[in-house]
Amino acid sequence: MIKACIFDLDGVIVDTARYHFLAWKRLAAELGIPFTEADNERLKGVSRLRSMEILLELGHITMARDEQERLANKKNGWFVEYVERMTPAEIFPGVPALLKDLRQRGQRVGLASSSKNAPRVLALLGLADAFDAMVDGTMIVHTKPDPEIFLLAARKLNVAPHQCVVFEDAEAGVDAALAAGMACVGIGSEEQLHRADLVLPTTGEFDPATLATLDVRQPRPTP
Ligand code: BG6
Ligand code: MG
Repeated sequence: MIKACIFDLDGVIVDTARYHFLAWKRLAAELGIPFTEADNERLKGVSRLRSMEILLELGHITMARDEQERLANKKNGWFVEYVERMTPAEIFPGVPALLKDLRQRGQRVGLASSSKNAPRVLALLGLADAFDAMVDGTMIVHTKPDPEIFLLAARKLNVAPHQCVVFEDAEAGVDAALAAGMACVGIGSEEQLHRADLVLPTTGEFDPATLATLDVRQPRPTP
């Protein structure tokens, strides 16, 4: 039985994935690296520094670690500027109602975002109290597609991994959810997210009545 729903933030709750893309594109332009929305798919869900590495791979550029960190911080400065201008109107349609509905049905509701800005974004959107547990990029060692973030969220929610459904817009996130032994609803294109158990164009379209059909996984063997 599914007992918990774990949501990614950027691109699932709110369109901050767009702001990440715009900030990376701005940095790419400074570095003379061509950078498209298709390239950006590889950056979704992964940590800031891993994103920096992928951008440099795309541009065939090698760079010292401290310089990579400086540029990733510069990108973050732009991202934070965009985000600070955001309002609750930018939450995806139907999401607050869905979170409320899931809780009313007795589901535990969690957030698992690779972003170190997640607490700030939630506060700006007035969603800080919408989740029973929250894991952000400051609390994990390994970035998605490693399952660490979702396993930690499940532990905080006090449910077993196979009792969780993850909502994800990133390929790395879908892979992380599956590696955690959880069911996964992909938000976005079927082509990109086909490994998910179900793919929907938007989060707000999810029908909580279908939760039972997602209960497809077996308990993971205890090590
Ligand atoms: C994820 C985004 O949620 O957070 C990635 O999908 C982003 O694009 C990552 O790189 C890290 O975010 P931040 O805010 O810590 O740089
Ligand atoms: Mg995302």
